[in-house]
Amino acid sequence: MYTGLQHLHSYMAYLVLLGLLISLGAALAGLFGNKTFTDKDRKLGLIGLITTHLQIVFGLILYFVSPLGVSNFSGDSMKDSVSRLYMLEHPLTMVIAVVLVTIGYSKAKRLIGQGSAGFKSIAIFYAIALILILVRIPWISWPGN
Ligand code: HEM
Ligand code: HEM
Repeated sequence: MYTGLQHLHSYMAYLVLLGLLISLGAALAGLFGNKTFTDKDRKLGLIGLITTHLQIVFGLILYFVSPLGVSNFSGDSMKDSVSRLYMLEHPLTMVIAVVLVTIGYSKAKRLIGQGSAGFKSIAIFYAIALILILVRIPWISWPGN
């Protein structure tokens, strides 16, 4: 169970980064091309939303199964930067990032047909989320092994 989930979460991370890059690229192209945000553009934003939402669910389960997750929560772990990353910083930052993606998508959904504002919402929120994700991915163990 643990190893399977660990691998799933690790492979899903590629899809999360790819999904966010596709959605973000499409939004930036629409924004700078000064196009009108349509339902087709909403669906391009959905790629980043679905991959991140799926990853949150796998991550949450992993957090309760992994020896690096909640079971490692202690004052001593707090003093160790690697332990702290896995038990606190990574999960917390990722949840914040996915909330931002959801807000960006949600706002954009309501801006269909209203100029390029929908692109702007996705571009800003997904870009901040992507940066947060990149700074708190455990690069010491991913990708590789
Ligand atoms: C966008 C969301 C997320 C991304 C892109 C992501 C990505 C990753 C990556 C790349 C790893 C390293 C995997 C490896 O060493 O092979 C990892 C590990 C881990 N993640 Fe996430 N994660 C996300 C969300 C979450 C959330 C929300 C939680 C918990 C609430 C979580 C809990 C964990 C845990 C506990 C590990 C360590 C697993 C272990 O090796 O035992 N992740 N994550
Ligand atoms: C911890 C689990 C999850 C939470 C808290 C969550 C939360 C949310 C929220 C708040 C929205 C509303 C966005 C809006 O205003 O439209 C949303 C939308 C969505 N979620 Fe999740 N989600 C979760 C898991 C998932 C999973 C596992 C999937 C499937 C892969 C998923 C797919 C979607 C899709 C497709 C939408 C967009 C619906 C639309 O077009 O309006 N979510 N989610």
